Amino acid sequence: MMVDEDDEAYDLIRRHLLRSRGFDVSGYSPSFFSRVVRKRIGRTNCRSSIEYVGYLRRNEKEVNELISSLSINVTDFFRDPGAFEELSSRVIRPLVLLKTELGWSTLRIWSAGCATGQETYSLAMCVLEELRKEGLSTNLVVRIIGTDLSKTALDFASTGVYSQEGVKGIPRRLLSEYFEKRESGFEASQPLKRLIRFTSGNLLDQPTRSFFDLIVCRNVVIYFSRPMHDRVIDNFYQALRPGGFLMLGRTETLMGPRRRLFVGIDHENRIFRKPEKSMSLSDP
Ligand SMILES: C[S@@+](CC[C@H](N)C(=O)[O-])C[C@H]1O[C@@H](n2cnc3c(N)ncnc32)[C@H](O)[C@@H]1O
Repeated sequence: MMVDEDDEAYDLIRRHLLRSRGFDVSGYSPSFFSRVVRKRIGRTNCRSSIEYVGYLRRNEKEVNELISSLSINVTDFFRDPGAFEELSSRVIRPLVLLKTELGWSTLRIWSAGCATGQETYSLAMCVLEELRKEGLSTNLVVRIIGTDLSKTALDFASTGVYSQEGVKGIPRRLLSEYFEKRESGFEASQPLKRLIRFTSGNLLDQPTRSFFDLIVCRNVVIYFSRPMHDRVIDNFYQALRPGGFLMLGRTETLMGPRRRLFVGIDHENRIFRKPEKSMSLSDP
C-alpha cells in the first residue's frame, strides 16, 4: 500500500539524517516532515518515496538540501529591528564600555542558528556602531561566531553577498558604511567580515566553546520539542560566562525550571542574563 511504503521511506529518511549528520527530526511534527520530504521528492524527479531514499543515500548534496528545507532558513537583516535596538543599548553598549574600561581584551558573541548569516552580520554592525558612537579606537578584540546545521546556508553566509532585495532590512547609512556594491548585489566589507567566522554545528551537541558574553539564538528553538529545547538551553548556560547574556526570538522563551537559571532583563525582547554566581536546576 502507498501509505505504508511512504511511512517506511520516511522512517528510513529520518534514520539516515540522524546517522549521517546527527540531525534529529523526532522533534518536528510528522505532517511538517512529510510535507517537506514530498516537496524534495518533487524537485528531484524521483518517482516514489522509496526511490528518494536511495537518491538521498547516494547524494550528499541532497542531504544538505533536505536539512535546509527542514530547518527553515528564513531570516533577515535586523529581523525585528526594535529587538536589535534594545539589544544594542541594553547589552552590546554596556559590554563594549565595560570591556574597554577594564582592559578586558575580547568580546565573544555567538549567533546560534544563524542560517544565511544576516543575523550575524547585523550583530557585527551593532558592535561596530557602538564602538563608533563611543569614539573608542580600542584594542578590544571582537569575535563573532555564526553556527548552523545547514552547510548550504553557511556557504552562502560566508560569501557575505546579498541581493538588492536581500539588504532591504539594513538602514541606508549602515548599508553604505559596511557593504560594497557588486554586480550581483552587496558584499559585506572587510571590517565586518574580519569579526565573523562561520562554522557548522548542531546546537544539541555539547558546546565546544565557552565564555561567551552574548549568545543570540532567535527563531530556532521554536521548532524544537521540549527535551530538545531544554538541552539547547543547558548548552547555552554552559557556554556563557557568568554574567553573560542570552537573547531568544520574540515567540520563544525559557520554560519550566530553566527559567530559574537566568535573570530576565527584557521580557518583550527575550533577553536574559546568566547570574554571576552559577545556579543549578535543583537550587530553590
Ligand atoms: C528560522 S532560521 C533562524 C535564523 C536567524 N536566527 C533568525 O532569527 O533570523 C532557523 C535556523 O536554525 C537552524 N537550526 C535548526 N536546528 C538546528 C540545530 N539543531 N543546530 C543548529 N542549527 C539549527 C536552521 O538550519 C536554520 O538555519
